[in-house]
Amino acid sequence: MKEIIQKDFEIYFGSEVLEKLAEILINKEYSKIFVLVDNNTKIHCWPILSPYLVNVQLIEIEAGESHKNLQNAEKIWTKLQHYKADKHAVIINLGGGVISDLGGFVAATYKRGIDFINIPTTLLGMVDASIGGKLGIDLHAFKNAVGVIKNPKYIFIDPIFLNTLSAAEKRNGLAEVCKHALIDDKSLFEKLQLTENKETLDTLLFHSIKIKVKIVKKDPFEKDLRKTLNFGHTIGHAIETYSLKNDSNPLKHGEAIAIGMICEAYISVAIQGLANNELKKISQYFIDRFPKYKGKLPAQELIEYMRNDKKNEEGFINFTLLKKIGKAKINCHCHDELIAKSLDYYQHL
Ligand SMILES: NC(=O)c1ccc[n+]([C@@H]2O[C@H](COP(=O)([O-])OP(=O)(O)OC[C@H]3O[C@@H](n4cnc5c(N)ncnc54)[C@H](O)[C@@H]3O)[C@@H](O)[C@H]2O)c1
Ligand SMILES: [Zn+2]
Repeated sequence: MKEIIQKDFEIYFGSEVLEKLAEILINKEYSKIFVLVDNNTKIHCWPILSPYLVNVQLIEIEAGESHKNLQNAEKIWTKLQHYKADKHAVIINLGGGVISDLGGFVAATYKRGIDFINIPTTLLGMVDASIGGKLGIDLHAFKNAVGVIKNPKYIFIDPIFLNTLSAAEKRNGLAEVCKHALIDDKSLFEKLQLTENKETLDTLLFHSIKIKVKIVKKDPFEKDLRKTLNFGHTIGHAIETYSLKNDSNPLKHGEAIAIGMICEAYISVAIQGLANNELKKISQYFIDRFPKYKGKLPAQELIEYMRNDKKNEEGFINFTLLKKIGKAKINCHCHDELIAKSLDYYQHL
């Protein structure tokens, strides 16, 4: 078992973490233990976790982003109240990013805050959503519109949960694993290009987790360094929004971000001096692993979405770009024509 111990939270990684969880729960003497699941993690993940727990109350919501909302937050608060949860109760979030964002938000606000523990069960949850303390819900169509920042007490990451995850969901998380490599660690990118076997994959996963922890620890409130995590996300978010509106089978976040990373690497060549051969490697990595977007990507409409992005300041579209693989530069701006050219570049790959 590997561990990362921080001042306000602890991460345990590996195949013995659930024993560790059981041990911690005995020592902590929580007044009540709640486990939040969705209908998929109840089937696939709860049977793996349940042998390690006694006297818990399961709370279930429906799976999917559309359920990360105020109605479900209220439903969970009400259940906590119904079961007379006091300040010493704990919520264990067993699921992907929807469960950890929502369950964490509910815990951080119930009676002005009770402890919560994340057990991420998606790749995206393991390397990204469960770490860093951003919690919240969507408000109508606005993603993550209401929320707070608070860290879980513990994060237990057992790759066993990935066994039941679909290939598409794994790809979704892989985009963020690769992003961590591109912004912070060239050696991780090199290993990702080569690897496929399970043992090395687990090692790479932990490597990626360490990068996210390092960044959010130095800059928890996204004043500067944490912005490096936005690489690929300015164009990627616009593509994600566009696809949600226009496609019957819309792109997943990671798929849109993969395209965003290719386009933003192209822009990086023009204005941050990223080497052409590094752009080629990045493009090839994503083209080999992610489905190519078949529709047209209309530059003007996408740029309009980018103008509305909450990352912008003083009217400029804000980018995080690459100086080279492993080194990011925040707060970059560029002309609209270059954005359009980058979309063209992707479409002609
Ligand atoms: N807080 C943050 O810093 C942060 C960072 C990135 C993303 N997010 C949020 O995370 C969410 C996306 O997370 P996600 O991709 O994990 O989505 P998700 O939680 O919706 O999970 C994806 C799907 O996989 C299913 N699933 C989960 N674990 C499974 C398993 N082990 N086996 C089989 N099926 C399983 C879920 O039921 C769901 O249908 C978004 O709401 C996003 O805003 C938050
Ligand atoms: Zn992302």
